[in-house]
Amino acid sequence: MLSQQDMLARLNARRPNYSLDHDLYCDPGVLQHDLDNIFYKEWLFAIPACEIPKTGNFATLQVGAYPLVITRGADGMIRAFHNVCRHRGQRLCAKPTGSTPKLVCPYHQWTYDLDGKLLYARDMQEGFDPSQHGLKKVHCVDLGGMVFICLAEVPPPIADLAKVMSNYLAPSGLKKAKVAHSSTIVENGNWKLVIENNRECYHCGGSHPSLCRTYSDNPRMTAMEGPDSASPDILEHWKRCEAAGLPSRFINHPKMQWRLARIPLLNNAESYTMNTKAAVSKRMGDMPFNDAGSLLFFHYPNTWNHFLADHAIVFRVLPLSPTETEVTTKWLVPEDAVEGVDYDLQNLTEVWYNTNDEDRQVVEENQKGILSPAYEPGPYSTIQEEGVIQFVDWYCETMQDRLAPRPAMAAE
Ligand code: FES
Ligand SMILES: [Fe+2]
Repeated sequence: MLSQQDMLARLNARRPNYSLDHDLYCDPGVLQHDLDNIFYKEWLFAIPACEIPKTGNFATLQVGAYPLVITRGADGMIRAFHNVCRHRGQRLCAKPTGSTPKLVCPYHQWTYDLDGKLLYARDMQEGFDPSQHGLKKVHCVDLGGMVFICLAEVPPPIADLAKVMSNYLAPSGLKKAKVAHSSTIVENGNWKLVIENNRECYHCGGSHPSLCRTYSDNPRMTAMEGPDSASPDILEHWKRCEAAGLPSRFINHPKMQWRLARIPLLNNAESYTMNTKAAVSKRMGDMPFNDAGSLLFFHYPNTWNHFLADHAIVFRVLPLSPTETEVTTKWLVPEDAVEGVDYDLQNLTEVWYNTNDEDRQVVEENQKGILSPAYEPGPYSTIQEEGVIQFVDWYCETMQDRLAPRPAMAAE
């Protein structure tokens, strides 16, 4: 198990623009450092807000060692809590989603309000103070219909992203959407391999026959240098979309922790379907036309997303072990769209079901190769894998900063 110091030494010794050292993808100590310094510190995408539309709806998730529950209160507010009873620590809610007027512990029935307050604890002695035993809160924000949580005591700033998200996501009408389908798979690979694989389309031509009907694998599409370097067809797409009220140009976090951009699909395709046509006969929110392309949004460490005219696909990545990662995909459609009438579930989900399974296979084979003593870090293509380089730089710099001794402790 790599200690904090060992890990820092590996990070400091890494070769820029090369894949990472074996241990950084496989070692249990590294996973613990990743959890402690990234997953327990950063804002994480949890659920789409429309998954818990009504008072009493809840959703659960597990982030590393922390079981969490997200509720919709009587006041309409979304809140997140540690999913741990304040009596003897039972996990309160076991189901992935559900609906309940109050949160009742299954062990001895302590009962909490949806805002976390302890309402009832049977046969507790005099002097017991319910107000001191409410559920422990977790930071929680709704960014344009995407609920993010943060386990840190003091979360990183989110105001800039909140502003951008409310602007970019407004036309997609996520608050008036519903979850049409959800899928959770476990990929036998380190979480960084899952994100790295998502951040390039170098592999798309060889791996994704379904997706490549509509999604361009041209790296210029998602190049990071900014709007001026975009190709004429992208500039044309942005002009048309922005004239119709759709914010579209690249917008990035200064350290590239997140990015939004609306890219055109291939050959005026409308959606990620096998026949390239819209999967849903109704449009999301105020989307003005079918061929608006895909608004891409990623946020490190755990989400990438596609917002189309007819539906949206949101992805959540959570590490389970050094070489196992949970990937949850949700397909959102307008809330009044009726399955079998306005959309066919197979047609809606086919391309990304295939794509997820293909990505699972490449990630698992990648992990198997990296587990070999013969593996050594290899060079990324600066033409095709700029996004991977940028993610790995973000990861390494974030970890170097957090693992390094604080200035106060450093020798002068
Ligand atoms: S542990 Fe929850 S009521 Fe006892
Ligand atoms: Fe892929």
